[in-house]
Amino acid sequence: MEEELQRLVATARQEAAGIDDAAQLEEFRVRYLGRKGILSGILRGLGNLPAADKPRMGALANEAKAAIEALHAEKNAGLGHDCGQIRRGPDLSLPGRCSAHGRPHPISRVMRETCEIFAAMGFDIAEGPNVELDYYNFEALNIPAHHPARDMHDTFYITDSLLLRTHTSPMQARIMEGQQPPLRVVAPGQVYRCDSDITHTPMFHQVEGFLVDEQVSFADLKGVLALFVNKMFGSGVGLRFRPSFFPFTEPSAEVDIACVICGGKGCRVCKKTGWLEILGSGMINPAVFEKVGYDPKRYSGFAFGLGIERIAMLSYGIDDIRQFYENDLRFLSQF
Ligand code: FA5
Repeated sequence: MEEELQRLVATARQEAAGIDDAAQLEEFRVRYLGRKGILSGILRGLGNLPAADKPRMGALANEAKAAIEALHAEKNAGLGHDCGQIRRGPDLSLPGRCSAHGRPHPISRVMRETCEIFAAMGFDIAEGPNVELDYYNFEALNIPAHHPARDMHDTFYITDSLLLRTHTSPMQARIMEGQQPPLRVVAPGQVYRCDSDITHTPMFHQVEGFLVDEQVSFADLKGVLALFVNKMFGSGVGLRFRPSFFPFTEPSAEVDIACVICGGKGCRVCKKTGWLEILGSGMINPAVFEKVGYDPKRYSGFAFGLGIERIAMLSYGIDDIRQFYENDLRFLSQF
């Protein structure tokens, strides 16, 4: 049997040398190594040998099998592919898969829509830095160091004189410094405050708007904001001006929209008031004009700062502002 195995390996070696395509190699594999092949037959026949010969013959048969497997693997590598397996290529008959489409974030949409409404009223659009000087964020807006109004802003400071802007109002001073009236500008952008609950996020978006000319009055401010609310929410929505205070406007007002989440009945979003604040506004304080070199006797103007997330909440009926920033695709893909 020992000689028989040696002859088998020698024959297999000769045959393997002559193989030059995948079909022949497969036929070789089935004949020598297959379940019903020569080697399986030999291994099965070991059972009939005397017990004393079994271990040695078993080892020799396994060596022969390993040698023939090696011949097969060597040849297979030489032919450049594994013909012992089903080859899986692309199935050209399958229908194509559509790639998922991205879409603008709801905040980007509302931001763009807001700017478009003001652009249609003749406002220019300007952008400024998120990392701002203390001077523009506070000093130039009539909020000197240690002024109590600074506490309202929950500021992220970077150095003593540098901070993440807490509102877009610094753009008033930046633009007025470089341009003479008349001017009508909206300045969209991100702002930052150490603040978080269902109506506050630490990063949010504002659109600053201001108009400076001769004989601008509070009635102009009311008209522009009422037109904006009308265009954004439709003519039926409730709107109210509420007296307020900002050091850079005098008089000042905050504007609330009737809460669309509860229809004005009172809910956790509007804190049971039926109203949600969307912006601060007022007539530009003459002290701000003096800082930028405008003559406050000749010029007057109004300014406002809109909270874009609040407008988006009301537009889409969202009852927790933080959902905009959780990046949950199930939420975002609804818009
Ligand atoms: C200001 O930021 C003033 N700069 C607005 C202003 C501009 C007044 C020009 C006068 C003239 P206030 O802090 O109220 O004001 O913020 C304005 C709006 O931003 C708020 O009405 C609200 O809609 C939104 N807002 C404020 N804090 C947050 C916050 N943490 N998260 C989301 N929205 C906020």
